[in-house]
Amino acid sequence: MSSKISVLAICGSTRASSSNHHLIKAITEMGTGVFDVQLFGGLTDLPHFNPDQDLLPDAAPAAVQQFRKQLEAADAVLICTPEYAIGVPGTLKNAIDWTVSSMHFSRKPVALITAGTSGHKAHQSLLGTLLIIESKIAEDAQLVVSGVKTKVNEQGVITDEGTLTQVRKLVDALAAVTRGEELVILPAPSLF
Ligand SMILES: Cc1cc2nc3c(=O)[nH]c(=O)nc-3n(C[C@H](O)[C@H](O)[C@H](O)COP(=O)(O)O)c2cc1C
Repeated sequence: MSSKISVLAICGSTRASSSNHHLIKAITEMGTGVFDVQLFGGLTDLPHFNPDQDLLPDAAPAAVQQFRKQLEAADAVLICTPEYAIGVPGTLKNAIDWTVSSMHFSRKPVALITAGTSGHKAHQSLLGTLLIIESKIAEDAQLVVSGVKTKVNEQGVITDEGTLTQVRKLVDALAAVTRGEELVILPAPSLF
């Protein structure tokens, strides 16, 4: 690992003025000197998940191979996503489905923020998905930001003091897990 932690940031919203994108901006700023954040720009280029194209690494569509390469190259992953209809946005879930068999999230340090009007249902669902595919998520590296539009502005500044504290904690936890420090890691859920 180079001195800076390379982080692949994935925004679950494709909206131009996405609050989740603003949060990624805030975290990029906060992590200056520690993180080297690259925003994944190919979410909507990924085809619909198809297990037939997933079986052999070389058989996967080019956009999928590119996504997997970027995951492989990253020391850690940051996901910021809204909740849609009390679920995970389809575009984001589709992307993750392409990594289940290829195990690109296995042992990968991940930080997850679900930010929306509420966000709790999608957060639990996505947390379960990420943990079952063996992501390493510290207790403090996951967070729901409800009412996000009043807490982060268009410039990527977190204006709510409590949220700022929680996001700082999340950044520290992601850095610590990536460096191999001993933190409480969330257990994988049972499949049944
Ligand atoms: C189709 C749709 C469904 C939504 N469903 C939920 C929901 O179930 N729970 C919630 O907390 N917010 C919901 N929202 C509100 C979004 O979470 C909120 O607009 C959020 O700011 C979107 O994230 P973004 O700003 O990063 O695009 C929904 C928004 C849309 C467009």
